[in-house]
Amino acid sequence: MEPVTPYLCRYKGYVFAAGLNTAEYIDSLETFEIRDSDVFLVTYPKSGTIWTQQIMILINEEDGVKDDNSTNLDKMPWLEYPKGRVDYTKRPSPRLFCSHLTPALMPLGLKDKKTKIVYVMRNPKDNLTSYFHFCHIWSELESPKSFDDFMEKYLKGLVSGGSWFDHIREWYTNREQYNILFLTYEDMIKDLRTAVQKICTFLGKNLDDRAIDRIVERATFKNMKKDPCANYEFVPENIFLREKGGFLRKGAVGDWKTIFTVAQSETFDQIYQERMRDLPLKLTWDLKELPR
Ligand code: A3P
Repeated sequence: MEPVTPYLCRYKGYVFAAGLNTAEYIDSLETFEIRDSDVFLVTYPKSGTIWTQQIMILINEEDGVKDDNSTNLDKMPWLEYPKGRVDYTKRPSPRLFCSHLTPALMPLGLKDKKTKIVYVMRNPKDNLTSYFHFCHIWSELESPKSFDDFMEKYLKGLVSGGSWFDHIREWYTNREQYNILFLTYEDMIKDLRTAVQKICTFLGKNLDDRAIDRIVERATFKNMKKDPCANYEFVPENIFLREKGGFLRKGAVGDWKTIFTVAQSETFDQIYQERMRDLPLKLTWDLKELPR
């Protein structure tokens, strides 16, 4: 892994937080043995990962899957962060995984298209805003000097997870190679029940209305925030500086307006246009855009 800053390193075109992975482990993922029943959730960081993770775990539980692990992190671990805690090969099926990796680093077996992938994206202005705040509460990430400085790094892809623009592009343009469902954070905010139903249908789970209601109830911002298995307050205090904020911060669409200056917003829009204009993405940047 090539150091980029004291906090970041690059490997095979992807930017990792320093010290959390090894090149050997990332290389080993290429031949990681995939089971047809595995399900992956893939996101760029700060796109609603732990929210969708909660939904997917609850769908499995409502479908009768028993998992004695207590936290969502143990029930649905990150593929790229083994941390010596779990031997994934010993986990019973169906296994759930999260990942922030790009297609080039994912197990080749996913291209058999039997294993399902849920991909969640979020408008990048809110994504950047969420990421900026998160860097202040997560000690493994560099604390930004200013919002302007963080935006510059984000636009250059000099943050853990690399470039939002590349992440979206690589997954979107390679979508035909995978069995993948694309969702947006904003659609989940607009209509959580429909999003839960969409995930159920994609995963082939036939849950009744009451089961869907229970999942929706436990996946609301308010309820997840107080759910000790889902709110990540179980992360050790030297990593998660919880006195500075929480994983579940605002849970809103359009919060970027509280922090972007007009000039920053215009610069961002211009770069977005240049980099994404050829992709037919329909992102929601503000909930006022919603047809009433
Ligand atoms: P904000 O910082 O904008 O509040 P990730 O899990 O990928 O790190 O994403 C974190 C973002 O998802 C945070 O955004 C967090 O508040 C939001 N989030 C988590 N659970 C949520 C929920 N149940 N409803 C809405 N947003 C949620």
